[in-house]
Amino acid sequence: MAEYVTLTYEGRSYQLPVIEGTENERGIDILRLRTDTGFITYDPGFANTGACKSGITYMDGEKGILRYRGIPVEELAERSTFKETSYLLINGRLPSDRELRNFSIMLNDHSLVHEDMKTFYQNFPRLSHPMGILSSMVNALRSFYPELQVTEEEINFTVTRLLAKVRTMAAMSYKISRGHTVVYPRPDLAYSENFLNMMFNTPVKPYEFIKEVVRALEVFWILHADHEQNCSTTAVRVVGSGRVNLYAAISAGMSALWGPLHGGANQAVIEMLSDIHASGGDYRKAVERAKDKNDSFRLMGFGHRVYKTYDPRAKIMKRMCDNLLEALNLADPLLDIAKELEEVAVKDPYFVDHNLYPNVDFYSGIVLRAIGIPTNMFTVMFAIGRLPGWIAQWKESMDDPQWRISRPRQIYTGPLETHYVPMSEREPS
Ligand code: CMC
Repeated sequence: MAEYVTLTYEGRSYQLPVIEGTENERGIDILRLRTDTGFITYDPGFANTGACKSGITYMDGEKGILRYRGIPVEELAERSTFKETSYLLINGRLPSDRELRNFSIMLNDHSLVHEDMKTFYQNFPRLSHPMGILSSMVNALRSFYPELQVTEEEINFTVTRLLAKVRTMAAMSYKISRGHTVVYPRPDLAYSENFLNMMFNTPVKPYEFIKEVVRALEVFWILHADHEQNCSTTAVRVVGSGRVNLYAAISAGMSALWGPLHGGANQAVIEMLSDIHASGGDYRKAVERAKDKNDSFRLMGFGHRVYKTYDPRAKIMKRMCDNLLEALNLADPLLDIAKELEEVAVKDPYFVDHNLYPNVDFYSGIVLRAIGIPTNMFTVMFAIGRLPGWIAQWKESMDDPQWRISRPRQIYTGPLETHYVPMSEREPS
């Protein structure tokens, strides 16, 4: 492979170094482009821009590959737990037995949330979206738990505390929104069981664990745990690059995730399927609308910036959906609509030509419904799952020897220099 590409402009040539990753992904290093040539690059949505080197997650959008620290997501979904996968992402390798036990102890020890935070929760207006509440509360954590980021040990302490508390805070927001008493975390329960107990246990009806439900939640979170430089992770890195505290950077990621084109798509898919169901089940109309360039409607849960084939997470999610509904002896008419819609869409020339396939969000909402999670909490569930990924990416960016504050350039298209006109001399409108 050549070590440089040559850029030629108006008779002058510039050599730009080629860099290559471990999976042979190639990039052109433009670090000196502006200094040497006066040019900047133009790439809206950063579709062709590598903003960092990263050793966390590998994706191949053409082949439908997703690996965390080299391990295929299929193997993790089959054999790992969310806690172990979180450790893997944050620390770069699978834990030993002792390391995993210590990690569990720390997660349990830090799972309580400061009682004063309850006052904040109770004062959000009744119809507040849980994502708005969660991102605000995560930012507020900085006021309750000052950060000590000096040694590796202190950083690990801070990130583990965040992992432990966000799960409690998410369940707490649900309980308070329903006017119920908050259920506290229990040290005898595993990560997912604890969450389910905090969400659904009531003084009149103790929550009964069903092993398929617990496993489905684990797998749901494993599948969401990281996805390299997506919109919310980029937000975490960009905001973190100003050297803001961890909580503020994660809160920015949560705000980015909320959008319906990103993590909010799981809620949007269920709303779309419910609308189709309520209006008689005509899914073909939705497919036709999605193709119509005069209609802003998109098929939610379809398409991806990187995957140009079936999202590997969606394959697992779809299987899990079937298994879970069968184990619970549930029938969900939205699953039938989703499957029929998928069958029509993946054969449609528009979807084939545009490489539009179901993404992780297409079936995940049906899994969450079966678990009993209310629709407005879906993106919060995604956020809990993505947290270890955000933390790992934030840590990596803090240690990056090539770290610089994120500060893109622009091509200015506004007015040329003009002068201030006093009000008395302006044209009346
Ligand atoms: N339905 C209909 N057409 C679509 C869709 C869709 N869901 N997605 C993309 N297209 C079309 C789009 O209209 C455009 O067509 P044309 O080139 O003819 O103008 C073409 O495909 C490329 O679209 P794009 O918006 O430039 O693609 P992107 O890479 O910028 O956007 C996306 C990716 C995920 C935002 C987009 O596919 C989308 O809006 N999907 C629906 C929302 C969704 O499911 N989001 C969840 C993504 S996975 C979870 C996560 O990690 O966030």
